[in-house]
Amino acid sequence: MRTVNDAPSLRAAVRAWKQEGATVGFVPTLGNLHAGHYSLLDLARKHADRVVVSVFVNPTQFAAGEDFEKYPRTLAQDSAGLAEHECDLLFAPDVETIYPCGAQHSIRIHVPQVTETLEGAHRPGHFDGVATVVAKLFTLVMPELAVFGQKDWQQLLVVKRLVRELSLPIEIIAAPTLREADGLALSSRNQYLNRAERALAPQIHATLQWMREAARDGHPARVVETVAMQRLERAGFAPDYAVLRRADDLALPDEGEREGLVALIAARLGATRLIDNLPLD
Ligand code: PAF
Repeated sequence: MRTVNDAPSLRAAVRAWKQEGATVGFVPTLGNLHAGHYSLLDLARKHADRVVVSVFVNPTQFAAGEDFEKYPRTLAQDSAGLAEHECDLLFAPDVETIYPCGAQHSIRIHVPQVTETLEGAHRPGHFDGVATVVAKLFTLVMPELAVFGQKDWQQLLVVKRLVRELSLPIEIIAAPTLREADGLALSSRNQYLNRAERALAPQIHATLQWMREAARDGHPARVVETVAMQRLERAGFAPDYAVLRRADDLALPDEGEREGLVALIAARLGATRLIDNLPLD
């Protein structure tokens, strides 16, 4: 595996592959990689001849009060894991490479509508930062396809909309969420849970499963959401939301609508905020 930090080296490597007729798959990450990230890489490998993974802790997607400085930087460990998983190229740029005019003064891409709710409402500016860095990374890597995890359902919709609006010739592939045996979705944030919190955390997935069953049994969405919030509070969470939404744009479903929905939860356990979701179909 090669590691490059600058745009000209990245472009030269990708250009050489394309001249050979190879297709390029891309997995953008913030680093601090775990098995969930490696499953994205494995999926990219199934669809492309060469795979590029980026590790970049993107300052513009951290909302006020979220600790950009404290995000774990584990590049040596990430690099070893990527090499083991047969990544072809690790792109690990510094902030100046991605934001030549400074992160604060960078252009910003705002994806409307789908960003206005849920994570967008709780983390102001977060999706502008995500859309901006993903657009910048796409123009640098120029992949044929890119893989994003379904765990960040709303982010996946934002990226799909970005690609559509900018007419980028990049196929977006959604990777299923990887879970621990007890149902907890893999996430870098799980490492912050203490023993008691870790024992409670699978209740998020259990509540999503309950929401799916209750919706399938015909209970009204508002009732399902209220009971789900109560379940989470009783278990010791401080939930931000537990909702049923249309899977393709996160709009509120009509009364009685059951097809094409997704259940989504965001909840705090102590100082850690966890998100997860479950499609109903
Ligand atoms: O999901 C992530 O890890 C990040 O939001 C992404 C897509 C790498 C953009 O920084």
